[in-house]
Amino acid sequence: MFTIHAVDGYIETIYLAVYHDKVLLIDSGCRSDVPRIEQAMKRRLNRPMSQISLAVASHTHPDHAGGAHLLRERHAIPVAAPKDINRWYAGFTGGLQHKIDTMLGYFVAWTLKYPFEMICYNKRLAYDHPLNDGDRLPGFEDWQVIATPGHTSHDVVLYHAETKTLYAADVILKVGTGYRPPFPVSMKKEMRESIGKLRNLDVKLLLMAHGGAEKITDFPAIIDAMLTEIDKGYPPGLQRFRKLEGFSPVIKKYYRQKRKEKKAS
Ligand SMILES: [Fe+2]
Repeated sequence: MFTIHAVDGYIETIYLAVYHDKVLLIDSGCRSDVPRIEQAMKRRLNRPMSQISLAVASHTHPDHAGGAHLLRERHAIPVAAPKDINRWYAGFTGGLQHKIDTMLGYFVAWTLKYPFEMICYNKRLAYDHPLNDGDRLPGFEDWQVIATPGHTSHDVVLYHAETKTLYAADVILKVGTGYRPPFPVSMKKEMRESIGKLRNLDVKLLLMAHGGAEKITDFPAIIDAMLTEIDKGYPPGLQRFRKLEGFSPVIKKYYRQKRKEKKAS
């Protein structure tokens, strides 16, 4: 079995699932988090970086995929990512969205009063293992991939049934004492369905990219709180950022389809 070690990243938490002979990196963090991961492996775990035999990028945002590029380049760590990850930032408007999302990453760091770190990264991720809903992670078959579109079209979370552990990536966030959906919720209907899909999981340990690790006793109550928050919409502070999302060609196509369906009905 494994032990979980949390690494405080620049604007998110990264998790190392440490087995006796290998390590699974649960989400790749920002580009600037790579030295933090290296330090944790060397000083805290006394293991070589070569023991990380897989790094997962749950979705394309800078605090989840940014580190994957450098980990692959510098340490030849194989990367697993959702199969459609590169569609989100494709083309000119996708490139624009990539720049906006990177700037939003800087904005989050600035509001939290964190010192500047370089988090710019290539919008196109070279990865070794495409992930589909229901897949088992290569080399870590005890972890199941669950597709959870909504935040982006391709987000995934990871579930370890034996230990009842869920890595919720950017699907469940904890802000203060409350559980919240991410910003943005690009596809509301899909987000609700994704959250609903998680309800049936038996979860006792919740690993959040934003909110840390938490032992929980009532996962369905968290799911209900999340659904309520999604229905409430964005809090006033986030409303003004809405216009900064929606440039991805995937989401443009999604909205076009929605408009067509509305017209037809
Ligand atoms: Fe995200």
